[in-house]
Amino acid sequence: MANLVLILISLLAIGRTLVHAGEPSPLQDFCVADFDSPVRVNGHACLDPKKVTADHFFFEGLHKPGNTSNPLGSFVNRPTVDEIPGLNTLGISTVRVDYAPRGVVPPHRHPRASEILIVLEGEVLVGFVTSDPENKLFSKVLKKGDVFAFPFGLIHFQQNVGHGNAVTIAFLSSQNPGVIPIANTVFGSNPSINDDLLAKAFRVDKSIIRNLKSPY
Ligand SMILES: *[C@@H]1O[C@H](CO)[C@@H](O)[C@H](O)[C@H]1NC(C)=O
Repeated sequence: MANLVLILISLLAIGRTLVHAGEPSPLQDFCVADFDSPVRVNGHACLDPKKVTADHFFFEGLHKPGNTSNPLGSFVNRPTVDEIPGLNTLGISTVRVDYAPRGVVPPHRHPRASEILIVLEGEVLVGFVTSDPENKLFSKVLKKGDVFAFPFGLIHFQQNVGHGNAVTIAFLSSQNPGVIPIANTVFGSNPSINDDLLAKAFRVDKSIIRNLKSPY
């Protein structure tokens, strides 16, 4: 019996740890970010609730198509807590992506969020890869109305594989999910990661590394 109780306590403790892998449960109705507060906390200090208005929870314009005339052929409009201060401590945010035909959101990861994506227009190839050693690809072509989830922190990507433009909306489990585009971080860091190390790591010639590092 005592053993069973111990096991139950351990399981509860693990459960709590998992819950706290996301953002903590609220202790009040809201904690709108006070960007002027000198207090340093994980996130932002709370604005005086008497000063909070509907506009703190509001963002407009996500119906507007983004400009996809760029080398990736995509545009990401990602309002986080910086644009919607009411998101502070809520563990949630949203993003709209527009894609020209063949446009991509290159392989990237969010260090602080899982993501659920909905296709509003077009046909979008999506996928994520599991961690070492399996590195298994889970991928699918989505059409309008389809939904796909990207698990916490895993590398994922999107490409418009339809004939017209595509639009997706996604929701992320953080007020500030962050984004780590793999190519930008590995080949575009400042200062740069040494060519010899990268050539060895990717098992290619240094000239290829220098090529990957040069801006398009
Ligand atoms: C879209 O971006 C391109 C490249 O920066 C620019 O030339 C073009 O004028 C922009 N289009 C609109 C509608 O803003």
